[in-house]
Amino acid sequence: MTGELSPIDKAKFVAAKKAAEYVEDGMRVGLGTGSTAAWLVRCIGEMVRDDGLKIKGVPTSTRTAELARDVGIEVISLDEARWLDLTIDGADEFDGDLNLIKGGGGALLQEKIVATASDRMIVIADVGKEVESLGAFPLPVEVIPFGWQTTQALIEETLISMDVLGRQSSMRMNAEVPFITDEGNHILDLHLNRIGNPRQLAMILNQMPGVVENGLFIDICDTVVIGFGDGRVELRDINEGTVTHDKLDFVESENLFTDLAD
Ligand code: A5P
Repeated sequence: MTGELSPIDKAKFVAAKKAAEYVEDGMRVGLGTGSTAAWLVRCIGEMVRDDGLKIKGVPTSTRTAELARDVGIEVISLDEARWLDLTIDGADEFDGDLNLIKGGGGALLQEKIVATASDRMIVIADVGKEVESLGAFPLPVEVIPFGWQTTQALIEETLISMDVLGRQSSMRMNAEVPFITDEGNHILDLHLNRIGNPRQLAMILNQMPGVVENGLFIDICDTVVIGFGDGRVELRDINEGTVTHDKLDFVESENLFTDLAD
């Protein structure tokens, strides 16, 4: 059945499969959101069913919570877990310092809270997510609905003095209506093209009253697992300064490769 997967989906799958090896019995694990994280949740579900793995999962969205329950993972809230051993999540972009843009799926707020409450964050990504400088992917910023256009104008004005190559922004839509996050907020996507100083931009955005959180993850990710369409994976650990390689065989599993909704 993997023969039907595109190279990019194979890359996402092998990254997720490799990262799942870091999940151990008894861990409290943050479960990311998005198509790559959905593979991870399925891989962990398989380990729970077939190998008797016992973990507690803290999902980063209602979508992930549903999938996790569907595949048999015990789901608890972050407040029940308090602190996590590990979070594994996807990313929209990562740079050489393992700084990230996240939030393409609109779940950046829960994702950042969960990742920050974890001993370790592993990002899983296909090789196309690696960039020299962040910013080609529009930067998601979660804003409260009250006065969102004023917040948008304030952001665009502030961007004039920032080291970015564009300052247009757009309201994330869901068909005809503004997208609503799990917390009832909206998402503004900032079309910056290149972000010269992601750390500074992240801090300045979060100082604005209408901004809840931004999709720049600075110094949060410890390890990235990069997947390739031919089954190769590359692991980079920013703390250890190591780069290792592996190759995974596609082992087909009925449960894993059917009905992937995300
Ligand atoms: C969800 O809000 C995002 O942060 C995702 O982690 C990110 O968009 C990556 O998604 P994919 O794995 O679907 O590319």
